[in-house]
Amino acid sequence: MGGTKRGAMANKEDLFKKIVAHAKEYGFVFQSSEIYDGLAAAYDYGQNGVELKNNIRQYWWKAMVQMHENIVGVDAAIFMHPATWKASGHVDAFNDPMIDNKDSKKRYRADVLVEDHMAKIEGKIAKEVTKAKKRFGDAFDEKQFVETNPRVVANTRKIEEIKNRLYPAMDNEDMAAIKSLIEDLAIACPVSGSRNWTDVRQFNLMFSTSIGSLSEGATEIYLRPETAQGIFVNFLNIQKTGRMKIPFGIAQTGKAFRNEIVARQFIFRMREFEQMEMQFFVRPGEEMKWYEYWKEQRMNWQLAMGIPAESYRFHDHDKLAHYANAATDIEFDFPMGFKELEGIHSRTDFDLKAHEEHSGKKLRYHDPEMNQSYIPYVVETSIGLDRQFLAVLSFAYTEEKLEDGSERVVMKLPPFLAPYKVAVFPLIKKDGLPEKASEVMGKLKNDFMCFYEEKDTIGKRYRRHDAIGTPYCITVDHQTLEDDTVTIRERDSMKQDRVSIDEISAIVGERLSVKL
Ligand code: GAP
Repeated sequence: MGGTKRGAMANKEDLFKKIVAHAKEYGFVFQSSEIYDGLAAAYDYGQNGVELKNNIRQYWWKAMVQMHENIVGVDAAIFMHPATWKASGHVDAFNDPMIDNKDSKKRYRADVLVEDHMAKIEGKIAKEVTKAKKRFGDAFDEKQFVETNPRVVANTRKIEEIKNRLYPAMDNEDMAAIKSLIEDLAIACPVSGSRNWTDVRQFNLMFSTSIGSLSEGATEIYLRPETAQGIFVNFLNIQKTGRMKIPFGIAQTGKAFRNEIVARQFIFRMREFEQMEMQFFVRPGEEMKWYEYWKEQRMNWQLAMGIPAESYRFHDHDKLAHYANAATDIEFDFPMGFKELEGIHSRTDFDLKAHEEHSGKKLRYHDPEMNQSYIPYVVETSIGLDRQFLAVLSFAYTEEKLEDGSERVVMKLPPFLAPYKVAVFPLIKKDGLPEKASEVMGKLKNDFMCFYEEKDTIGKRYRRHDAIGTPYCITVDHQTLEDDTVTIRERDSMKQDRVSIDEISAIVGERLSVKL
């Protein structure tokens, strides 16, 4: 059997298209309001997608809340007092610099255009290193090569020079300087190929709406752009009512909204998406220890799914957000390349301090061991559920050529995340087999998500369940009526065994445990 995994596939763009088409065909993800030609950057999760998404969310909740006695959950409202967003800095600083290409009429984030340009130069450096590694074999000293090879040195210097112009321009919100940088680097529009750009302008990403009827005097409020602030404003409520002792965490999952300028690439960047965030409150001065701890924990959470380590890398931020003293991203090797999946940020006491100032309410913790009150420091882990979904889906998507020359698409999802764990089929639709299969289904469905199917040949039914990642298919045949045994077929190996009905639960259950 020859499998085609993502890395081996010649054309990653092609692979991405296939994954998007597969997600639609098999009820994972649909374009929002498709019958009206869709709404840009909004997506709906179908019957299989919602199961996979729920399973990822539960896996996260288990790792964060169930496995940590000092972490509890919260479910805050999406609507928050508008002062929240003034305090958090989002009203004044949650902006992206945008630029339009006058020929293609496409809008881009100006800083992303520059970062993509730097990524291309980094790609050239990586190529040189790979070539040299091959040439020199074991004797290769990468550090020395990078420091001395003239082409690599020149390209490294180019990147430094660009950073030295981009970051101060971003910090100072100097839109003219960003525009000059784009012009000096001769960056062209990827669509029109032209360099006919507008000026760079700031664009606030928050969606606003109004609350209350006009006669009462409506108030402008925002749809939350992150779930984190719902945690900060509840810090003291939870600390007091839960008698939480520092260090402790508050976890939350829920929708967030951003009016993204560049909202392409399927569910990677959406205007309505879901976050899974955890704020960990620590003693001032201990934040770096916890930052390292959460970096390791979050990477382990990824690896426990069985996705290989080479699909991930850390990317430490050169340019820190206004609230952070350290920050890193876990990047995943998506079909469109390595991109941010999760952020781990040391946010200092910025948020609680700002909410104290704006609300006039004390947000302090009395540390009984130190006999001192202080504003805790915060280490945050923040992951996009939809991005994690895309990571899992793109890892799992596999095309295989079978020994008999036929092909199959199989979603090699980690079994505990699969929408259905078991599919139950009567071999044929008569002779009492559907009734017996329903009986088997009845025994299993209390413990597992099960799917009952009697239409089409067994082969076609197997293919449909391969395509949605069901780890086990059970077939009830005439022998079942005699001795209460069935065939159980495993998704990846396609191996079939004959087992007694009473054994099915244990076989399936064993594959579903995940060790954290
Ligand atoms: N509270 C910190 C925060 O929100 P962020 O880096 O802006 O940090 C965290 O977002 C994560 O949320 C990202 O790593 C990404 O996975 C996800 N995310 C952010 N914007 C998104 C979007 N437009 N669509 C989908 N996911 C998004």
